[in-house]
Amino acid sequence: MKQHHNERVNFGSRLGAILAAAGSAVGLGNIWRFPYETGNHGGAAFILIYLGCVFIFGLPIMMAEFTIGRRSKASTGGAYEVLAPGTCWKWVGYLGVLTGFLILGYYTVVAGWTLEYIFQAATLGFSEKTPDDFVVMFQHFSQNPLRPLLWLFIFMFATHFIVVRGVKEGIEKSSKIMMPVLFVLVLLLCVCSLTLPGAEKGVEFLLKPDFSKVTADVFLGAMGQAFFSLSLGMGCLSTYASYFGKETRLGHTAMSVGLIDTCVAVLAGLIIFPAAFAVGIQPDAGPSLIFITLPNVFQQAFSGIPVLGYVCSIAFYVLLALAALTSTISLHEVSTAFLHEKFHFTRTRAAWIVTVGALVIGVVSSLALGEWSAYTIGGMNIFDAIDYLTAKIMLPVSGMFAAIFVGWVLDRSIVRGEATNYGTLKSSYYPLYLFILKFVAPIGIVLIFVNELGLLG
Ligand code: PFF
Repeated sequence: MKQHHNERVNFGSRLGAILAAAGSAVGLGNIWRFPYETGNHGGAAFILIYLGCVFIFGLPIMMAEFTIGRRSKASTGGAYEVLAPGTCWKWVGYLGVLTGFLILGYYTVVAGWTLEYIFQAATLGFSEKTPDDFVVMFQHFSQNPLRPLLWLFIFMFATHFIVVRGVKEGIEKSSKIMMPVLFVLVLLLCVCSLTLPGAEKGVEFLLKPDFSKVTADVFLGAMGQAFFSLSLGMGCLSTYASYFGKETRLGHTAMSVGLIDTCVAVLAGLIIFPAAFAVGIQPDAGPSLIFITLPNVFQQAFSGIPVLGYVCSIAFYVLLALAALTSTISLHEVSTAFLHEKFHFTRTRAAWIVTVGALVIGVVSSLALGEWSAYTIGGMNIFDAIDYLTAKIMLPVSGMFAAIFVGWVLDRSIVRGEATNYGTLKSSYYPLYLFILKFVAPIGIVLIFVNELGLLG
């Protein structure tokens, strides 16, 4: 155990813990997935329900995962075995590992797209193009059988080598610079996007809720997005929490990560929708949304100062790729650590198994958008089907079990002790936290599923 701990990061400071968790949480989920899910589900009302899911389910479940990780000092596959030996709870851990592995596969496809867009931005691929050209450009690229695969392989190998080398130190340090720079660029792009002519309609779409559009799907979508964006329900944050020190305040860390993650997502919405409405792109364009909308912002908002547009567009996609990288590393780490601990493979061998397996899923999901788009499951292509299954079903299910485990199964003195750093912190929110874990989160999640199945009237 000791040796295994030395191989992975041991967060030295409270800030280190927050940054590592935020590095996992902030990624494509905020800048790519949040806007298109908001667009698919009608805008502002979805965002309100999303915020409800983050604060009501997300933060307490994040605390629950932190509790499981810090107390067990094991990665997710082993954590339940340490805390509830000889029971079926270990299957919740295994479900998390499987979910993370599937997400890694298709997430890296999109991460690869960011590399193509860095390349396009750097080689003046955006210049002189109209909004329609960007749509065609994305279609050509994503339906090409080879090019997205090339970027997928490059991105997956970059993740692989970082995980194998365990250069978390570097990642942790660079994220201290990268995160603030990303934040500043996102703010800058917000201003650019909001000043485009016709941007008001996008702001209205984002801020004026139309509750007539709220269907069962909207609740399921918002819940899935909250779990996905906060990296919950697959033991990623519990694995990270196994490296939290005694002084880390779990509640404070959960709140900080939740706020950072939510701010980045809402700001991403404030970039995409004003721009999309300004150039006449439909908000429900799906996974292609940011790739067909953003190049217009660079193109139009900086038309007076093209050099600035050039620099900002490259910088933006580089930072997006790096934000995706800190998330793919955390996804990869969960499966690698699991194979390493459970089957005693070396870390290198474990990482290779994960990389090769995830590449297979990645290749299938990538081809599903082009050559293999005719193969569908439940009316969805394979890419969308994996996204649906993992984000909207598997993450909430295993998150719900984490809540039940901490709320009902784990010894109460441990739960209180972890929440209050063994009596050194105030515990005014503790009763509310426990009430949510015991009742609100499990019942709420089940109700959302039942509602989706059309069984609630
Ligand atoms: N939260 C990441 C994002 O928003 O991009 C994606 C993710 C990372 C999901 C790690 C789940 C996870 F365990």
